[in-house]
Amino acid sequence: MKKFVKVAKKADVTPGKMKLVDAGNEQIVLANVGIAIVAFNNVCPHAECDLAFGALEGEELECDCHGSRFNISTGEVLSGPSLEPLTRYAIRLERDDILVGPA
Ligand code: FES
Repeated sequence: MKKFVKVAKKADVTPGKMKLVDAGNEQIVLANVGIAIVAFNNVCPHAECDLAFGALEGEELECDCHGSRFNISTGEVLSGPSLEPLTRYAIRLERDDILVGPA
């Protein structure tokens, strides 16, 4: 993704929830962690399961397939089997809209 694109309304991403959106050829998960909205690629870096089906608790996301846990604010792996961090994207808020852009 080379430029910012509008993907959702702020009201679509309520605290503690995730929303799967399309941005060009990529599927991106938006998550509201209370103090911020974050964005990361839907593809788990371990074996490519959909992270949107994972369990979110605060800033921690557990992948539904093999249990890797990630900090969605930083992207870091908290526990494996994944060895690779999340692919994250920049967020821009404009009025009621959420835009995502290059990491
Ligand atoms: S695909 Fe996510 S932990 Fe294996």
